[in-house]
Amino acid sequence: MIKIIHLTFILLSISSFIGRIILSQTHPSILKQRALKIAPHVIDSLLLLSGITLVIQGGWLSSDFGWIIAKIIALIGYIILGVFVMRKRGPLRWIAFLGAMTCFIYIGIVAVTKNAFFFI
Ligand code: HEM
Repeated sequence: MIKIIHLTFILLSISSFIGRIILSQTHPSILKQRALKIAPHVIDSLLLLSGITLVIQGGWLSSDFGWIIAKIIALIGYIILGVFVMRKRGPLRWIAFLGAMTCFIYIGIVAVTKNAFFFI
């Protein structure tokens, strides 16, 4: 059940991120609405909370948990780069976007493989 909630917030997070980028290019004034400013923080907090719940529920801290630390670090990268994407303009924005997407895909692969160094 919690895993389904976790997966739902992952989908909400990535779709709201991409949605906000599209809106900032096409209808930037819509993004000034209070609800659209708060929603991403609520979604990302609940995503983190569902992840922490899965860690506790699955007793992952009593096993080899390096992959969980890697996920949390990459999540911080995804959030910081996401803030950059929304604040910057020009090429820097798209470099930050690529970085954020790389973090997101890395987190997903680490979740499935349970290996922070799956690429070696
Ligand atoms: C953008 C952020 C995240 C993404 C894309 C993501 C992705 C995923 C995916 C795809 C799964 C399912 C893996 C499977 O069934 O094999 C999963 C499970 C899980 N995630 Fe996340 N996750 C994110 C954030 C987090 C965070 C921040 C934590 C920890 C604080 C976390 C902890 C877990 C745990 C413990 C599981 C359960 C693993 C299992 O039972 O096999 N996740 N995550």
